[in-house]
Amino acid sequence: MPEPVALITGASSGIGAELARVFARHRHRLVLAARRTERLEVLADDLAKTGGPRPLVLTVDLLHADAGDRIEEALAREGLEPQFVVNNAGFGLSGAAAAQSRVRQLHMIDLNVRALTDLSLRFAETMARQRGGLMNVASVAGFLPGPNHAVYYATKAYVVSLTEALHEEWRDRGIRVTTLCPGPVPTEFQEVARTGPGVLRTPMTTLADRVAEEAYRGFMAGKRRVVPGFLNKLLVHGIGFVPRKVLLPQVARRHGSEPR
Ligand SMILES: NC(=O)c1ccc[n+]([C@@H]2O[C@H](COP(=O)([O-])OP(=O)(O)OC[C@H]3O[C@@H](n4cnc5c(N)ncnc54)[C@H](OP(=O)(O)O)[C@@H]3O)[C@@H](O)[C@H]2O)c1
Repeated sequence: MPEPVALITGASSGIGAELARVFARHRHRLVLAARRTERLEVLADDLAKTGGPRPLVLTVDLLHADAGDRIEEALAREGLEPQFVVNNAGFGLSGAAAAQSRVRQLHMIDLNVRALTDLSLRFAETMARQRGGLMNVASVAGFLPGPNHAVYYATKAYVVSLTEALHEEWRDRGIRVTTLCPGPVPTEFQEVARTGPGVLRTPMTTLADRVAEEAYRGFMAGKRRVVPGFLNKLLVHGIGFVPRKVLLPQVARRHGSEPR
C-alpha cells in the first residue's frame, strides 16, 4: 500500500514553510514542493531533526503545464500518495493591470488558478481513500474586487469559489476541504508583488506561524473556511454590506499610492 503523505506547494518560504512545520509537528509525512531546492532541503533537514521522517523534496515549477504529471510520477516512484494536499504556492502583482506585464499576470493565473485546480482534482481519489483533505490558500482578497491588484484578487475569488464548492461536493466522500483566507502576512509575497511597506501597517496583519496554526486546526476540524485574526473575520463578514462605490476607491488607494 502506498504511504500517505501531505503534499505542500510553495513550502520554500512564508506561509507554506510554516504550514510544513505545523504538519510535521503533527507527525505527517511531508512532500515539500517549490522551485528553490536549497530552501526546501534546509527546511527538510530542520524538520527531520524533530524526530519524524525526513520530508521528500520536489523541485517543481508549477507554471509548467506538465507539473502535475511530474509530481504524480515522483510520488508513485517513492511509493507515496497524497492524503492531504495543500495548494499554497501563489503570487501577486501590485499596480494598474494595463501597466503591468500581461505575461506575468497570465502566469499568475497559471499558478494561482490552473495549477491549484489541477492538484485539487488530480488526487481526489487518494484523498478519499486516505480519509484526508484539501486545503487551498486564498486570501481576504478573494471577497472583493482589487483595483491596482486586479488579477490577483480575481484569482483568489476563484480559489474561494472553487474550494467552497468542492467542500460541498466532497462532503460525503470523507474529504475535508478548506479555503484558507489570510489578511496581510509579512512574507516574501510583498517583495514579489512589489507592494509598498504600508500594506503591512495595519492591525489586520498576522504572522505566518499563527496563520499556519489556525489553518491546521480549522482544516482538521473540517471547516469550510479559515480566516485567521478577528479583524480579518470581521472584514470578510462585513464587506458585502459596503457599497462597491465606496469600497473600490479605497482599495485602489491602498494599492495604488504606495511607494515602490
Ligand atoms: N503574504 C500575504 O500577505 C498573503 C495574504 C493572503 C494570502 N496569501 C497567499 O499565501 C500563499 C503563500 O504566500 P506567501 O505569503 O507565503 O508568499 P511567499 O513567501 O512569496 O511564498 C510563495 C511560495 O510560492 C512558491 N512559488 C512561487 N512561484 C512558484 C512556481 N512557479 N512553482 C512552484 N512554486 C512557486 C514560492 O517558492 P519558490 O519561489 O521556491 O518556487 C514560495 O514557496 C499565496 O498563495 C498567497 O497568495 C498571502
